[in-house]
Parts: sequence; C-alpha cells; structure tokens
Amino acid sequence: MMQLTKRALNVKPSATLAINAKAKEMRANGINVINFGAGEPDFPTPAYIREKAIEFTKQGNILYTPASGTLEIKKAIQDKFKKDNNLEYKTSQIIVSNGAKHSIHNVCQALLEEGDEAIIPAPYWVSYPELVKLSGATPKFIFGKEENGFKITPEQLEEAITEKTKLFILNSPSNPTGSMYTKEELEGLAKVIEKYDQLAVLSDEIYEKLVFDGNKHVSIASVSEKMKEKTIVINGVSKAFSMTGWRIGYAAGDEQVIKAMSSIQSHATSNPNTIAQVATVAALEGEGEDLTMMVKAFDERRKYIVKRLNDMKYISCVMPKGAFYVMPNISKLKKCVYEGKEIGSSTELCRILLESAKIACVPGIEFGGDDFIRLSYATSLENIKEGMDNLEAFVNTL
Ligand SMILES: Cc1ncc(COP(=O)(O)O)c(C=O)c1O
Repeated sequence: MMQLTKRALNVKPSATLAINAKAKEMRANGINVINFGAGEPDFPTPAYIREKAIEFTKQGNILYTPASGTLEIKKAIQDKFKKDNNLEYKTSQIIVSNGAKHSIHNVCQALLEEGDEAIIPAPYWVSYPELVKLSGATPKFIFGKEENGFKITPEQLEEAITEKTKLFILNSPSNPTGSMYTKEELEGLAKVIEKYDQLAVLSDEIYEKLVFDGNKHVSIASVSEKMKEKTIVINGVSKAFSMTGWRIGYAAGDEQVIKAMSSIQSHATSNPNTIAQVATVAALEGEGEDLTMMVKAFDERRKYIVKRLNDMKYISCVMPKGAFYVMPNISKLKKCVYEGKEIGSSTELCRILLESAKIACVPGIEFGGDDFIRLSYATSLENIKEGMDNLEAFVNTL
C-alpha cells in the first residue's frame, strides 16, 4: 500500500466544487435543482477576448513563454496596477500564474513553512486554510463580526499576531461575504501590520471590479510605501472578465518574493497557457463595457435576493458591497425541527435544502461560520426567483 504524506492527509477537497458537482449531477438526472453554489459569473467571456485568442491560434506558433509570463502580459498588468490601484511595479515584480489560486499557492510556498502561522479573517474563502496547510504552516482565524459587516478590527488583528505570524491574508471584496474594507479601515489595519517586520500581507483583490453602490476598491498596498513593500497583491481575469476557464491570475510585489515564486512555478507548471496569456492582454486593454453590463445585472440580483431572504422567517441577510455572494444568517433556522430532529448545523441544513427545496447552497462551516450559508447569485434572476420561492415554501413548513 502506498503511504500518503501528512500533507496529503491534511488537505480537504474543495467543498464549493463538490456542491457544484452534486447539483450538476442531480440536474443530469432530471431533477430541477437551482444552483446557488457557483463561484463563477454566468456570462460568456466577452467576444473581443475570444476573437483575439482565435486569431492568435490561427498563426500556429503556440509555444512556451517565459515561465512567469510574457513581457507583453506583464506590461498590460503593470498598466492595470497603475491605472486602477495607483501602484507602480517593475515587470520583474510581476508573475502570471495558472489562475489567482496558483499565484496564492506560490506565495504560500515562498513565504511559509513549518512552525509559521498565517492569519486568515473568517468567514474566509475555502482555499486559504488549505493552501496555508500545504506549505506546512498553521492557519489562525479571526472572526469578522456580522455587525461589523464581517470585517475584522485592528485590535483583533493585533491580538492574533505572534512572533510566528508570517502572513496576513486579506480578501476585499470578500468571498464569501461580499464585505469591503474602506480606505480608513485599511489604514487602521496597516498601522498594526507596519509594526511587525516579519509580517507580510497577501491581498487577494480578484473581486475588485465587482462592486456596487459607487463603492471603490482600495488596495491595502496603496495606503503607504511600507505597505507596498510588505504586500503581495493577487488579482486575475476569472471574475471581472468571465474567464474562469482560461486560468490566468497574477501577483505583484517584492522582487525577491516574485522571483522565488517564479522559480517554484517554473518547476511545477512552466508558463500559464500561452493562448490565454494573449487573450488576457486583450481583456486588460479592453474598454470594459461587458463589465458594466455584468455589474448592473449582479446589482439587480443582489438587491432582489437580499430582500427575499430578509422577508423570510428565521433568516436575516447583510447587504453585500461587492463580489456575487450573499451570506445569510441561519442561526434561527438551525434551531428548527425538521422530520422530528433539530436541524443543528449549516451542513445538515444544506443537505436538507438540496433534497427538499431543490436548491444547492454551501454550508457556512466551510468558510468558518456555522451560523451562515453561502449563496452565489451568479445565476439568472429567473433562477433566483424560483430558488427563493422554493426556500420560502420550505421555511414556511417549519
Ligand atoms: C477569493 C478568491 N480568490 C481567488 C479565486 C481563484 O481564482 P482563479 O480562477 O483566478 O484561480 C477565487 C475563485 O473562486 C476566489 O473566490
């Protein structure tokens, strides 16, 4: 028998991908499940991006590029950081990876090892703790209170820092809560972070373009020169350009860290897909009309789903500021009795909802908050209406 490593035994499969797979399977079997589990926009990749990829493919030379990406894509990313985030990087401070997730993995491999700790605010994106564990380090969680829009305070951060803390992972706008930190709130966190020389920040800004009500995303790297030095910014084209399947993400920050990440990547995967790199240049240099349309659609769905949830018995829901998720509080629903038994947990609730209400949601426990469930509204308004009708009918039977 082959023996698995501790690392392999320790890592959990992605719960969100599992829920999606289950919902798709039920649909394939003719069951009309409304899927609120999706982690990707339900819009096609804009045509001008696809056209560029087709054109490039036709010329036939689809070869290796430098492992960390072409100079052309790095220049497009360099311009994006300057234009959108007021951050200036050299191209040697930029790496392009097979999705933002891969860039995050590279950061963890370059900065963390056994004995180190990484602070992750909860509710968190499911992959952060696993990527930290894969590096040998230990994740440490701080819970952002619902009353504070699921955001942590500088005091909470300071309390969690020890001499072992090497990385603080920030995700604004957030998956799963849709919360966003203001410039002032980021400055408050920065004041604490700047005191600790050993501490670096991973700022995952992949949802920066999916924001509502005129909110503007601010990068923590842009609040001071010191924070720029201490932060590795993560971004990508998956969400803003509906390009999840193209697998392009990127990171920018300290030159030595980026160099180490590039070496790691060069042995693990070599360059990200060459065609997708060309398409990404087109995406980053585009006008953004499709984005405006997509944000408008998400905004309409966001308002609708939050209202419907808040109108239901036993459920309350904070209005998210960005991304395409809502995280309703189901603590009262957990205490309800279903088929003679208290529901008891977010996992059990999601299992019942899938079977009885035919809706797929992700249990909050997977994001570190058992009093919640996550619903993605990256699905048509029609589907959302039907799903909410199903949920309401179920809740009314309790
Ligand atoms: C917060 C967050 N970061 C990163 C990613 C990964 O994006 P990519 O498709 O670029 O790997 C996701 C995808 O769900 C996400 O929600």
